[in-house]
This record gives sequence, structure tokens and C-alpha cells, in this order.
Amino acid sequence: MAVIPSALPASGVAEEVVADRFPVDTSAVRAGDSALEVDSNRFARMRGIDLLGRDAPMLRWQRERAEHGVWPYFRSFRTSLRPHAVAVTEDGRITEGLNFGCQDYLSLSTHPRVHEAAGKALRDFGPIAAGALGLNGGNPLGTELAEGLATMLGFEHGLLFPTGWAAGYGTIQSMISKYDHVVLDKLAHNSLRHGAAAGTRNVSYFEHLDNDSLRAKLREIRGGDAKNAILVVTEGIFSMDSDAADLRELIGICREFDAVVMVDVAHDFGATGPDGLGQLGAQGVLGEVDLVVGAFSKSFATTGGFLVTRSASVFEHVRLYGGPQTFSSALTPVQLAVALEALRIIRSAEGERRRVSVRRMAERIREGLAGRGLYCMGNVVCPVIPVLIGSTPTARLAWRLVGEHGLITNLAEPPAVASNQARFRLQAMADHTTEDAGRVVDILDTAIRSAQEAIAGRDV
Ligand SMILES: Cc1ncc(COP(=O)(O)O)c(C=O)c1O
Repeated sequence: MAVIPSALPASGVAEEVVADRFPVDTSAVRAGDSALEVDSNRFARMRGIDLLGRDAPMLRWQRERAEHGVWPYFRSFRTSLRPHAVAVTEDGRITEGLNFGCQDYLSLSTHPRVHEAAGKALRDFGPIAAGALGLNGGNPLGTELAEGLATMLGFEHGLLFPTGWAAGYGTIQSMISKYDHVVLDKLAHNSLRHGAAAGTRNVSYFEHLDNDSLRAKLREIRGGDAKNAILVVTEGIFSMDSDAADLRELIGICREFDAVVMVDVAHDFGATGPDGLGQLGAQGVLGEVDLVVGAFSKSFATTGGFLVTRSASVFEHVRLYGGPQTFSSALTPVQLAVALEALRIIRSAEGERRRVSVRRMAERIREGLAGRGLYCMGNVVCPVIPVLIGSTPTARLAWRLVGEHGLITNLAEPPAVASNQARFRLQAMADHTTEDAGRVVDILDTAIRSAQEAIAGRDV
């Protein structure tokens, strides 16, 4: 029997009850119900002359999902991002309880030093940058931050972007000419895929983490084109799957074919690896990759992204031609101060304690869920714990149940993941406690079993 918090009244005072099943409203589980079955791919590219009206089927589908409480998007937090928080859906469904649904792996968004730095920057420089980086948007905090990131990762040059998405997109799109080739891991982030597509039509994908598949692609490309550049793109840790490539081998293969290596370390840098160096540090390949991009939005308590490189000309080129960096306003003084203070903490003994803490939390949750027969995906332990459910209807229903029973977490469903690969994506934080880890296991286990039974019995 699992010990779980009951469904919370709007006043939100948690009450401990013992249950081994959550009640399921069967009106939401009829077979063929589009709220449970249909994924957003069906509506992504509607055709027809009526540009302003042709998305009506998508709207009906979205409303139906919201009505059944299985629309997990556009929820907002009503509290700061602490381990216990309140989140509310657009139609007013309140979840007050455990927060495993935000990107603040080291719990730095509530750190007093970070808040102090933000306040000081606001007082010293005001709330906004003067413009784009090239047009007076720079700030000494930004210079220190960019240099600090480059130094930590063993590079000479650092460039900041408005978001992590912009860093990946802008770097690839500006560096690549239409004659070049970009070869990406099949599960590379949206920003990287769009950057490649904006730069060249010569875009191809290798099988996820499969270095043999990469070698075959590079051999094929080099066989037909010895003159143009090849950029190979992967991630430090793929957060949807909590897994990582064998980077040393990948780099070796790229060298064989004269290809340049870029790694997006959005999820692992700062929060994982020796001294916060993520997979580059863990696999001992620091300084061996050519380009590193990353994001502040997971471990640095603010929004923003970066590129680090050892090439002065690449730095200058991307700074000049890197669309989202060149034509968007620069990061604000407050964002810069927050990321800089986070970087200082990340590099200190306190940063190490926080990394150990979030890692322990992830290990405990993985062990707990495995003990209940649930499968956590991945080949590395990181703050993101993907809990595989498989069936989309079961996952949607389970998401509703966890929300009703005091757990804030995210659902990853097709097309964001392959069909029949729907999963929860728990995001642990350094400030979570052992008790939180035990309780999240109880809630998930009960919700998933309850949803599976309801779905299995829906035709009866
Ligand atoms: C690999 C990767 N790159 C970039 C991003 C985008 O970062 P941001 O949210 O800062 O734009 C993400 C976000 O989830 C990511 O997973």
C-alpha cells in the first residue's frame, strides 16, 4: 500500500491517506476518445485556403483534452520553484505538492546569493540591455560571464545568446554554408535541427548514440565531397532519454573524416560531472571537441545560452552573423548577474554539494521506481528521470492522476517522443529530500497502475 497525499481542495492543505489505487473518472477513458488517443502531429500542418479557420479541428482536440483534464501544457507556477510548490492549469486545476516539474536542477533560483546579485544588477544597471550585443547591449557582467564559461570549459572565447535555443540555432545557422554538411544525432534538440536546416539542405541524421551509424554517414558524405565542411552535432546528455554518447569514440570518428564536433551541454553542464563539467568532464574529453553550446535555463537559474570556442574567427563570425544573437536584444543585467553568481556557486564546494545532492535524489527515485517494477530510461544518472509508460492514453490519464494527488511533473508524449514511448519526465532538484523521493515513487506507482487498469477496462 502506498502512502499518498489525497486530492487537494483548492485551499491546498495536504492530507495523508493510504491508498493503493486512485479513483478514475471513466468518462475520460472511452475507447477511441481523441483526448486520450490523438497526438498533435495530426494538426501540425493543416492545408487549405482558409488560413485563419483551418486549425479548428486542432482547437476542438485541445479543448477536449483540457475538459478531460489531460492537457498538460501551459500550466503556470503560483509560487517560487521550491521542492513544494503550487501549479495551476489554464482552466484552474490546482496542484499543490511535490515539484518535480521545473528546470532548476541545483535549486539556485531560490538561493539568497543569486537573489542578492539580481537585486544589485537591477539597481546598478536597470532592467534592460541597451540593445543587441553589437549595438551597445554589452555589460561588464556579461563579459565576465562569457569569459568564465570559456575558461571553465577550456576554451578561449565565449559568446552569449538570449536563450539556449538561440545558441544552438544561431551558431549552426551562421557557421554553415549551403555547400556544407551537418550530421546530427537523430534525437538532437529542435534548436540544433532548425539551425542545420536554416544553413544547408545537406542535413542528415545518424541513429541515436550509434557511432557506427555516424561513421557510415561520414564515409558516405566524404566519399562524394572532399571539399566542404562537415559539422557533427550531438548533446552532452539527451534529457528526454537521460543518455549520453561515447564522446571519445565519436570525436575519433569525426577526426577520421575531417569533421568538426559540436556538443550541446544544456542539461549536463553545471549540474553533473566532475566540477560540474558534465559529460565532457566525465568522459575526459574536455578541450577535444571543437564547439560547445549550452543553456542557463537548467542549472543557472535564468534564461540565456552560450557558445564557447577556441577559434577567434569563429567567435567573431558567429558574433557578427549569428541571427538570434545579432538581431535580438542582449541578455538583461539581471539575467547576467544571476548566471554569473550561479557560475560562481557551481564552481565552488557548495556547487559540488548540490550536484551530489541532486544525483542522490535521482538515484533514490530510480531505485524506488525500479523496486515497483517501473522502468526509468537512460545510461547515465542526471537530474532528469524519464519514467517510461509506453501507451499515450495511459500516460495522459496517469498525468491527470498525479496532478490530482499532489505531484507536479511533465509528460513527454508523441510526437516529442516516438509512438508508444510516452513517459513522465521527472526533474529533480538539489533541495529535494529523501522523503520527497519516497513520496514521488508512491504517487507515480499508484497513478500509473490506476491508469493502466482504467485504460484496460474501458471497452467493457
Ligand atoms: C539540448 C537543448 N538545447 C537547448 C535547449 C533550449 O534551452 P532554452 O530553454 O534555454 O532556450 C534545450 C531545452 O530544453 C535543450 O534540451
